[in-house]
Amino acid sequence: MNYKLLNPAQLRSPVNTLCFFSFSDDLIPYKTAAEKKSLQKILNEEGFKGKENELIKVHAGQGIATRIILGGLGKSGSFTKEKLRRVVSKVIDYLKSTKIKEAVFYVPDLIDNDQVVESLIEVIELASYSFDKYKSKPKKTEVTTITIVSSTKNKSVIDRALIFSSAAKLVRDLVSEPPSNLIPENLAQIAKDIAKKERLQIKIYNEKQIKKMGMNSFLGVSLGSNKPPRFVHITYSPAKSKKTVCFVGKGITFDSGGLSLKPNDAMQDMKMDMAGAATTIGVIQAAARLKLQVTVHAIFPTTENMPGQGAYKIGDVLRASNGKTIEVNNTDAEGRLVLADALVYASKLKPDYLIDIATLTGACVIALGLDIAGLFSNSDELAKKLIKAGKQMGEQFWRMPLEDYYFQEYMKSDVADIKNSGGRYGGSITAALFLKQFVSKGLKWCHLDIAGPGMGSRKKFYIPKGGTGIPARALIKFLENLES
Ligand code: BES
Ligand code: MN
Ligand code: ZN
Repeated sequence: MNYKLLNPAQLRSPVNTLCFFSFSDDLIPYKTAAEKKSLQKILNEEGFKGKENELIKVHAGQGIATRIILGGLGKSGSFTKEKLRRVVSKVIDYLKSTKIKEAVFYVPDLIDNDQVVESLIEVIELASYSFDKYKSKPKKTEVTTITIVSSTKNKSVIDRALIFSSAAKLVRDLVSEPPSNLIPENLAQIAKDIAKKERLQIKIYNEKQIKKMGMNSFLGVSLGSNKPPRFVHITYSPAKSKKTVCFVGKGITFDSGGLSLKPNDAMQDMKMDMAGAATTIGVIQAAARLKLQVTVHAIFPTTENMPGQGAYKIGDVLRASNGKTIEVNNTDAEGRLVLADALVYASKLKPDYLIDIATLTGACVIALGLDIAGLFSNSDELAKKLIKAGKQMGEQFWRMPLEDYYFQEYMKSDVADIKNSGGRYGGSITAALFLKQFVSKGLKWCHLDIAGPGMGSRKKFYIPKGGTGIPARALIKFLENLES
């Protein structure tokens, strides 16, 4: 998509397709006479109320535009960027159903700041996305040029919007990719290609090296697969750095459950079990492109969880790289096992913030539904920063309790230090408490359980079915907020 920024005075009418916005209490938030006149006529005839997500399309014929699209933003006093994102996604859905090639978006004077224009471009990109590489006849929007009319003079908003949205789109592509096409080696190779392009350092550990590092918890999970595991560590280290952040992502390229095999229905979306790993790649790519003054590590263990010949068994005891022993009572609780060793590794880097991202538990989806990620943290400060960044980007995190007593109650093993599954009750909490055992004391750590929002089981405004890219944009914003 090509984007152009235009000052209202430069707009030459008539244009073909023009999109305006209305507030329910300020139906025509535009100043010039031409706009007022065209819009007033439509409002009178169509009974448009400017409510949230309200959308009308009118063939105006002559005047300022041939076709006018009007989107509602609700009350002007309670405007949020998310309301803009949602109604714009409806505009894009409409454009997809047409053969329109060019569209003009006219941002109201009232909200003509850089951030709104940035969000607008970003959401046009996100809403136009579809994962169609395996479709014989992809259905795409034919729009190639978008002109945005706004008094914003800051051209960098275009680049910024494209950096944020392309991170999310990269994550979406990776998450939606069929599992036999994205085996651990491939995921590592993709990380390598991106690292090379963005001039990031990267270290990829093979099976032998993983063994040498003592990561037997991670290795245990990989035993049932004939595809070798990989441990990936990418680093972005700018010359001037204000903080160091370590992201750790769960990279299970397919989760069959292992010997604790999942039933068919539960296995449907399990190609997405590497969404956490994909997120770390998207975020570090964006950090480099934005030239953020924050050191970023993207770390992910990646393997399949399969019930093959050598598979780890119920009753096995694994020794993680920090020496802790783990009794396996459910091979389907594999995410925490691969993350355990990765968290030990990441802790040694002594970051200011350590954040893991994982499609970890079905229990989290039961608790918070499909749209909200569970956030578990030992640091109020870090939790606050992440929740704030999420709000800015329309990605929701809800803080959950790290109730230590549950660990005593559910995770004790008769034969080892701990066991890997605490059963059904408080399943997302016991999983988080398990992870906590592998984070060095004193580190500010947060665990994001994205089992719900990581993969969309239905389209929701600008978030497609399949890979969603959540929470890459929020994490990039979090990094950016650290600069100031
Ligand atoms: N990858 C799954 C979690 C998951 C479930 C993600 C549904 C997205 C949607 C994870 O590895 C898993 O299987 N967790 C088990 C844990 C249990 C065995 C303690 C679960 O949630 O059932
Ligand atoms: Mn599992
Ligand atoms: Zn899993």
